[in-house]
Amino acid sequence: PQLALAGCSLNSCSRAPMLAGSPRPFPSQRYLPHSLPSPPPPSVPPPVSASRRDFLQTASALAAAGFLPRSLPALPSISSVVSPEFRARPCVVASANGLRGVKVAYDRITAGEDPLDAIIAGVNIQELDPEDQSVGLGGLPNAEGVVTLDASCMHGPTRRAGAVACIEDIATPSLVAKAVMDYTDHVLLVGPQARRFAIEMGFTPQNLLTEKSRQDWLRWRARLNPNDMYLDYDGNVKIKFHTGTINMNAVTSSGDIASVTTTSGMAWKVPGRVGDSPIIGAGQYCDNTVGAAGSTGRGEANIKACGAFLAVEFMRQGLGPEEALLRVMQRVIAMTEDRLLGPNGRPRFDLQFYALTKDGRFAGATAYEGASFAVCDEQGPRLVKCAYLFKESERPK
Ligand code: GLY
Repeated sequence: PQLALAGCSLNSCSRAPMLAGSPRPFPSQRYLPHSLPSPPPPSVPPPVSASRRDFLQTASALAAAGFLPRSLPALPSISSVVSPEFRARPCVVASANGLRGVKVAYDRITAGEDPLDAIIAGVNIQELDPEDQSVGLGGLPNAEGVVTLDASCMHGPTRRAGAVACIEDIATPSLVAKAVMDYTDHVLLVGPQARRFAIEMGFTPQNLLTEKSRQDWLRWRARLNPNDMYLDYDGNVKIKFHTGTINMNAVTSSGDIASVTTTSGMAWKVPGRVGDSPIIGAGQYCDNTVGAAGSTGRGEANIKACGAFLAVEFMRQGLGPEEALLRVMQRVIAMTEDRLLGPNGRPRFDLQFYALTKDGRFAGATAYEGASFAVCDEQGPRLVKCAYLFKESERPK
């Protein structure tokens, strides 16, 4: 189609070109929430008198009118109710693909290593494993056959975070996220600049598209629709469309907490798509006074509920990790658009959450019965069943 400019000549207007025949943009005032009442004008604060008594009265009136910050009651935290001799049960929890990683991370934290370094060593195993097609090297590519990766991490003791999104050619984005945290004043770097930053930091670029993932992509592309320009082949191969990821969280014996999530994101995604994994508060979150949480699965569903942050906030309010995660799952479903729900209101997608508390309790939870998560504590590494909201038979067909 021909390019036409909306309401201006080429030389006189800096507006973006529109495709001929596409609707003209609404005037910007159409987007104003004109049905909302205007806020009342702020009342004028009274003059401040010189006497202390008058000053205090005035200050509380100003606070009540919203001009001064009021002192709010402290929010509860698990650390505020533990004694100075507090000792946590060290443990590491992860998505099921982290079964090897939780052992590595647990051995490291019990040997005294920093919890974030330990769990990043744990997720590096999957990032560097070409057989895991949901993370790092060997991850399934986007619609154009390009592998792009997302990751984020948080370090509880120092209250820091780092993330990268849509980064290419670097197999361990979890380490790049940590480098953003350690070496910059920022939290999130994206795209080609994230790649450039990684190379400046000493990471080696490499081709992340394995032959197996390339073949899967070719098959997906050939079956886009019956009229596409590619001939279907290998008719018996089931095309995967999955949203794997690895999330890992750890608490040390002194109650220090860290969290990390890393992924190649949704297979065959629209180029530029970023999921929940690099979003602090969605893909993972950690508060050293409470606990940590993270997620795997359909990131679009999680982002709208800020699931990892919400889980930590529920735990701060006193819920155990399992109930906190189930409530997050309920919130996700409540925030889900109709097209992704069955007639029974059940979600058509998979999303899992994992959490641990400062004192070493942990859980995994999801919508449907049957999923597992990985844990390592004094009993060793193992898979544990996730809590769930619905039986598998309730999943919409
Ligand atoms: N949870 C990973 C993603 O949606 O990209």
